[in-house]
Amino acid sequence: MHMTSNVTGILGIDLPIIQGPFGGGISTPELVSAVSNRGGMGSFGAHIVAPDKMAELTNNLRSLTDGAFALNLWVSDHDPGGEVIGVEEFERVSGIFAPYYHELGVDLPTMPDRYHERFEDQVEALIEAKPPAFSFVFGVPSKAVIAKCKQQNIITIGTATNVAEGEALDAAGVDLIVATGFEAGGHRVSFLKRAEDSLIGTLALVPLIADRVSVPVIAAGGISDARGVMAALHLGAGAAQLGSAFLACSESGTNDQHRQLLLSGEIHDTVLTRTYTGRLARGVRNKLIDEMEKRITELPPFPVQAFFVSKIKAACIAQNRTEFTSIYAGQASANLKHDSVSSLMDALSSGLDARGYKSAA
Ligand SMILES: Cc1cc2nc3c(=O)[nH]c(=O)nc-3n(C[C@H](O)[C@H](O)[C@H](O)COP(=O)(O)O)c2cc1C
Repeated sequence: MHMTSNVTGILGIDLPIIQGPFGGGISTPELVSAVSNRGGMGSFGAHIVAPDKMAELTNNLRSLTDGAFALNLWVSDHDPGGEVIGVEEFERVSGIFAPYYHELGVDLPTMPDRYHERFEDQVEALIEAKPPAFSFVFGVPSKAVIAKCKQQNIITIGTATNVAEGEALDAAGVDLIVATGFEAGGHRVSFLKRAEDSLIGTLALVPLIADRVSVPVIAAGGISDARGVMAALHLGAGAAQLGSAFLACSESGTNDQHRQLLLSGEIHDTVLTRTYTGRLARGVRNKLIDEMEKRITELPPFPVQAFFVSKIKAACIAQNRTEFTSIYAGQASANLKHDSVSSLMDALSSGLDARGYKSAA
């Protein structure tokens, strides 16, 4: 069978495999470059990277690979009421978290000036830094941003969780669209409807979007091996984006407990929860989710919730505890087997060969 893939042609990569970006500081240049150097495309989740660090990051990645790579940002950087909160509100939220900070023996944080970098500043710096590709979630950048990317030959990759979002990205003129099913680990990156109302599986979503947009589609969510990549290609995608499978590799920046759990074969259940950050995300149920879900209506919006949880998470990791940390994982995690990029990419590549895949690039 001869399969062609226009995504590989546009990105100039050999294999129809994209390492999904990881936000929250767990992307590493080593992971991204290892994937790009093996014929796929690595992506660096840069949504917490300060604008003045964007050039350094891009140059570092360029020094590690001649292949294509993407920097990834979150277009919407706060939910309503989450950009600034008053002192009283900060104290109320601190009260919710105080028992956890107390149990972990860490001080409650003082009120910061900002909870998240401004997307507009980040994207300006990103365009200046000129990475080969710019992928994004939680929205559509302005016409001016898309136009500037085109001028600079930066390939734009938007992300859709339903058909309307795919159509909006297409109308905005992006080069590629990731259709992400609700199996995916990490956030449900919806922007036109509530994430809870955009819970479509990859098997349904990919052909629905592929049939309605003018640009090539990348399938994401629940893909862990060559069978899944081939299935995505058969559904009309030009490439597959894998997240959890790359997160389990030693080159990713996640912590040892998380990696061991991902590779344990034991993650049979995952849940969608707003308790990690204030936005809906998929991970493994633990005490943090159980207790915070009971107070869900009292929790602050993104990114304030993320700010408080991130400090609990750091303390948990330092103390080798998992009960109050965010354990992001996709639905296919129980099948993960590879602990390095070389092992995973070799298996994907030989699995694709065995199934008759031929690169169009
Ligand atoms: C810990 C974690 C963080 C993620 N952060 C981002 C992000 O910042 N931006 C993004 O576009 N996708 C993000 N994703 C989604 C992945 O890039 C990828 O699309 C998804 O994991 C694919 O589903 P899978 O986990 O079933 O393979 C994240 C996923 C995980 C597991």
